[in-house]
Amino acid sequence: MRSNSTTTKAFLSALALLALAVWQVEGRTSVRFNAALEFEKVGILECSKPTIGKRVGPPYPLPDWENMYSKLDVQTRRIYEVVGQNPKEMHIQNLYSEGLRVGDSTHNTDIDLVVYERGGLSADTLQAVNSIGSDQVVEEWLRENNLEDWRENNERARPIPRKRPTDGKLRVVFIFGEHGRELISTEIGEYFVKLLSEASVETLMPIFEDRTFVDDVLAALDEVVIHIVPCENKSGRRIVETPDENNGQGGLDKDPNLCQRVNKRIADPNRNWPLRGGTKPWNYKSDSEDGPGHSPLSEPETKLLFRVYKSVEPIALVNVHSGMHGMFMPPDYDPIMHNSADILAQVKLQSKINDRWMGGKCTVGAGGHAVGYVAYGTHNDFVRKGFGVPSTETWEVYGNQEAAYYDCFGMFNPIEKSVLQDYVRNWTGAALEHITHLHKGLIPGIRSPPNEFSKEVAEIPNPRVCGITQAHVDAMNGLGDIAFGRGDRAERFAFVEEAMRRTPTIVMPTLNSPVSTTPSAAIGTATPPALQTGGKDTAGQLGVNDRLFIGTTKAKGPSTYSLMMGSYTIMIFGLLFVTLSFYTYRRVSLGRTGRRGWRPRRYRVWDVV
Ligand SMILES: *[C@@H]1O[C@H](CO)[C@@H](O)[C@H](O)[C@H]1NC(C)=O
Ligand SMILES: *[C@@H]1O[C@H](CO)[C@@H](O)[C@H](O)[C@H]1NC(C)=O
Ligand SMILES: [Zn+2]
Repeated sequence: MRSNSTTTKAFLSALALLALAVWQVEGRTSVRFNAALEFEKVGILECSKPTIGKRVGPPYPLPDWENMYSKLDVQTRRIYEVVGQNPKEMHIQNLYSEGLRVGDSTHNTDIDLVVYERGGLSADTLQAVNSIGSDQVVEEWLRENNLEDWRENNERARPIPRKRPTDGKLRVVFIFGEHGRELISTEIGEYFVKLLSEASVETLMPIFEDRTFVDDVLAALDEVVIHIVPCENKSGRRIVETPDENNGQGGLDKDPNLCQRVNKRIADPNRNWPLRGGTKPWNYKSDSEDGPGHSPLSEPETKLLFRVYKSVEPIALVNVHSGMHGMFMPPDYDPIMHNSADILAQVKLQSKINDRWMGGKCTVGAGGHAVGYVAYGTHNDFVRKGFGVPSTETWEVYGNQEAAYYDCFGMFNPIEKSVLQDYVRNWTGAALEHITHLHKGLIPGIRSPPNEFSKEVAEIPNPRVCGITQAHVDAMNGLGDIAFGRGDRAERFAFVEEAMRRTPTIVMPTLNSPVSTTPSAAIGTATPPALQTGGKDTAGQLGVNDRLFIGTTKAKGPSTYSLMMGSYTIMIFGLLFVTLSFYTYRRVSLGRTGRRGWRPRRYRVWDVV
């Protein structure tokens, strides 16, 4: 009577689970979070989130290391050669970190840092990069700061004071290869280094075919110092390069090497920073790809970059990833974008870059909204607040969002050489254009007044970016009026200030405090009636750049967020159903194949971020 005993077992297990569920519910607040609904309540507007890509395989494509992608050691050797050929304007050095000792292992690694200064490296530049301190710098900061303050992001979490005046040359940092499997990122890094090493009208014109652009770039390069980390995560990258017979196959129990994102401690360098560090999203899973590490700043890669920022004091950072097409601004920990003149100007400029270099394929906006989930302890969020860097952008340069779970190469990287070359060229162009924007003072506060748009920024139509509300739109419109001298200046400034003040806030549940949000809990500041009409209605008021909508890629909006179960009833019936299904599945399927058929969805971007 096999089937009878199975039914009994299922029934008993269901009963036990039911008891557990009731105990859980009574023990603490229930998790009840419908992200789409909460976003609509606070008035987050719908945004353009194109889905790009198409499914290929199986068998899944594998990288061609001979003719298309370069292995790390080859790439590093070439970069040293390029720098060696232009010692007047370029400098490269290797930095080493022990990492934190956890148990009886440390996790040491190194990075290379390339510096480029057109016309010749100044004493100031050389002094900054040659005096990058040891891991001691990080340990000192940890001794003087309370990580709890940074986790809470309270008023005691104070930025590190800057010593260098910000009116001299602009120091910009580009980070490539934060995640090992994003091979395209380091290809762009290498190309960027090569292009800079011989930047002139003669070399840039054949590539970009636009004299005004090339002149702007060269003028900017005369006053910008560029710092490049061609591959941040060397150990991760080496794992990805290690041959694995399971690469390109599906239905595995364990991720093949090409899919590696985290290190052996399940630490993601992009979750290992102190701002909101160690906070876990409400739907966090302990074996997921975005482990925060032992504690903030525990990983050697994080320590190395901390030391670089501390000494270089950059004004801007671009962190280049792949997994989708996107350009993001802080914060990553909140689905509502910061509402300040510098951030608003930057999303406008990102939309412009997106249109010009990517044909509008990118999702633009707050990182915490655009990728479909919030993330804590990220690189860019900390660099903005901790080092006072006003421009911290994450670029997601390529992604096949339709790729299969095991297609880790094709999900993150172009599989055809001509496509790779096209992306490498265009994103290098985008990086150069970004530098011209910084140089021209188009980002408020960088070579320009902190709270004003220039006319050039005001002219860019308000983009339909992710994570903004009517308060952001009002602020953009007010700043536009000021730039064009429309209306009374003082009155317009007051309007902008008021718009920024009434930016709504949203409390995202975390693993340790799964709050049950209600309108009063979700909306921090007083919410004007305009905000309460919800996403769909207010979206109509946007001065939308229609070109952002390509094909059938209309906004999916916040619906990509997971939905938590709405009531105890659903939960209890769900558990019963799951238990019964499990036993049925075991009998019918597992007995036959002995293999797991289902896999969770892979995080594409942070890998993502
Ligand atoms: C980089 O990624 C690799 C695997 O992809 C991992 O071993 C390494 O620890 C990671 N390091 C950081 C700082 O992310
Ligand atoms: C790169 O730029 C070229 C020229 O503007 C354009 O034709 C091409 O579509 C762009 N590539 C991508 C991936 O958008
Ligand atoms: Zn990434």
